[in-house]
Amino acid sequence: MYANAKPTTTVLVNKGAAAQLSHAVHTLVDGSGFTCFRPCANYCLVQRPGRPSKRHFTTTPRTQFKEKYFPPADTKNIKITRPAWHHPVYTEQQMNAIQVAHREKKTWSDVWALSMVSLLRFGMDTATGYSHPTEEAKKMGSWLGLSKVKSWFGPSPMTERKWLIRFLFLESVAGVPGMVAGSVRHLHSLRRLKRDNGWIETLLEEAYNERMHLLTFMKMAEPGRFMKTMIIGAQGVFYNMFFMSYLFFPRACHRFVGYLEEEAVLTYTRAIHDIEAGRLPKWQQLEAPEIAVRYWNMPEGHRTMRDLLLYIRADEAKHREVNHTLGNLEQKNDPNPFVSEYEDPVRPHPSKGIENIKPTGWNREEVI
Ligand SMILES: [Fe+2]
Ligand SMILES: [Fe+2]
Repeated sequence: MYANAKPTTTVLVNKGAAAQLSHAVHTLVDGSGFTCFRPCANYCLVQRPGRPSKRHFTTTPRTQFKEKYFPPADTKNIKITRPAWHHPVYTEQQMNAIQVAHREKKTWSDVWALSMVSLLRFGMDTATGYSHPTEEAKKMGSWLGLSKVKSWFGPSPMTERKWLIRFLFLESVAGVPGMVAGSVRHLHSLRRLKRDNGWIETLLEEAYNERMHLLTFMKMAEPGRFMKTMIIGAQGVFYNMFFMSYLFFPRACHRFVGYLEEEAVLTYTRAIHDIEAGRLPKWQQLEAPEIAVRYWNMPEGHRTMRDLLLYIRADEAKHREVNHTLGNLEQKNDPNPFVSEYEDPVRPHPSKGIENIKPTGWNREEVI
């Protein structure tokens, strides 16, 4: 995969070879011997693995990486700034029980929501170079005698680097809907001089949680210029489209997010399976970054990359439940069932945690 050259740490490869190595993301897989790629006009500077160097070919020098993305607060009086929202406690058993699920479409707005998610998924798969053979594709491949071919039909072509590209892009978009929905409802409450019944906090907390996912992955990889451009473009289009849609069709928008979260659960489930199957060797022993350990309160001995993905997948499953439920409610008057107290507390009901999680959401008559 690497070009033959004299034994130096940096070599030039042609654009074709470089394309195989990188689309746009510089991967920092671990603290030592990591690999960074950066495409340029016709050639690409490639860092050989296992040969530490003072300078690595990312858009940001390694020495400035932390200051650029996680600048230290230079204050005289403040010791520490803690997050306003505390993450609920998840047990290992609860996280392992999270399942891939799909809520059947029932109305025309469900059809619209699912179609938009399929379209978005196609765009995201293309932008992030994602390909994960489905069981149907594998069966078709082996039926055609292609199972040995390293292609769509072969073993998973996803690498640690490609997963990180996908996670970064996914999470940069995922933080938008909760913030838009929360701000629209906030303005609605101010404008109509009416209370909101507890929806705003849950929506903003969801956006915060998604941003924590992004910041966690930012500790492991820095997007290249191409990916940064894609993120800005996607946010510009998606934010405005979601804002306009939420003004007029909030129920359909929650359904859309519910379906989007179904895809997120699927993506993280596949990544976890890849780790368990030994297809991502660099992540076998990789420790979760400090920011994640603190946010999820990850217990000692349960701080591997697999553990981290279990937490994030559980969060996505929670968003799936919340948005499918909110999509079932009367938008103007119903209280938020995830922060309400119930007449009969013994009966299972929605909560902030995942102890009573319902993958396809709660129906209105179950909770209101
Ligand atoms: Fe997320
Ligand atoms: Fe999510």
